Amino acid sequence: GIDLKGRSFLTLKDFTPEEINFMLDYAAALKKKKKEGRPGRLLAGKNIVLLFEKTSTRTRCAFEVAGFDEGACVTFLTNSQMGKKESIEDTAKVLGRFYDGIEFRGFKQETVEALAEFSGVPVWNGLTDTYHPTQILADMLTMRENFGALAGRRLVYVGDARNNMGNSLMIGCAKLGMHFVAVAPEVLFPEESLVQEMRAICEETGGTITLTDDIKTGVKGADAIYTDVWVSMGEEDQMAERIQLLKPYQVNAEMMEATGNPDVIFLHCLPSFHDLNTDVAQDVYARFGLTEQEVTDEVFRSPASKVFDEAENRMHTIKAVMCATLATNQVDADGKPI
Ligand code: CP
Ligand code: NVA
Repeated sequence: GIDLKGRSFLTLKDFTPEEINFMLDYAAALKKKKKEGRPGRLLAGKNIVLLFEKTSTRTRCAFEVAGFDEGACVTFLTNSQMGKKESIEDTAKVLGRFYDGIEFRGFKQETVEALAEFSGVPVWNGLTDTYHPTQILADMLTMRENFGALAGRRLVYVGDARNNMGNSLMIGCAKLGMHFVAVAPEVLFPEESLVQEMRAICEETGGTITLTDDIKTGVKGADAIYTDVWVSMGEEDQMAERIQLLKPYQVNAEMMEATGNPDVIFLHCLPSFHDLNTDVAQDVYARFGLTEQEVTDEVFRSPASKVFDEAENRMHTIKAVMCATLATNQVDADGKPI
């Protein structure tokens, strides 16, 4: 059997296809258990800390609710001494004495790696500039709910393919034998070294990786169209340049049509910049004369859009990651404690 107890979750690169599928099965079982209203005690007696350098709605709340659902105590920490008055190493050593698990969201992948190295407890990556692995589990679970088996399915990621989402979706698809297509301007293709590394994985899994700047051919045959914001957290100064580059890559009805697949679904990790309902969006739209950005409201609110199922699945999949790496009791595929 698969045993992930004591492991950190820093990038999907560290996990085998079997381990990823195990976490997805586990998440589906925990989701069923929650829907049946059966309270859990899988994390009873565990203390968890959530360290955030960047803002969050889904990730923070998913970790908190997932922890509470299974009986854990959770601390949310945004103003720690780490990186200011205290080194990451020392912070990790201290938190490791208090807590059974640490979630980190921030800028550098090296920070989450250092926390894992020095804390002595499982560390979960809640997003860095490089990777967003818990998001991929939610995306994969959502696709499984829509398609059944994932191997052989075609995920087309449109937009900034060089960011944490582009990288992590490419890894997830390679690991699970899916066809990953990045439709993006060439300067926003994922880094060549990561592409090569993932192509080697594809040799074993049957997946493929395609990078193209041609929208028409790129989106053809998609089972899912996925996009993310054009400007990620911490890159706000690149707004003008990104809008210029990515304007043609907006996900709209015409693009959905161009897939040729009437059953194609739309996914987005969220938060999305698709309407004018926020202060930041209003400012940007006024400055750049835009009406919509990475996705039109029409597609975002269409029946093809599974974005809120996807957001809900953040909670179930994060719960699975915490339970798999921390819990002494596991559940079987029916959600029964084993
Ligand atoms: N998708 C995601 O990570 O959302 P938050 O930034 O709200 O956590
Ligand atoms: N690429 C986005 C993802 C947000 C969940 C960012 O890093 O801001």
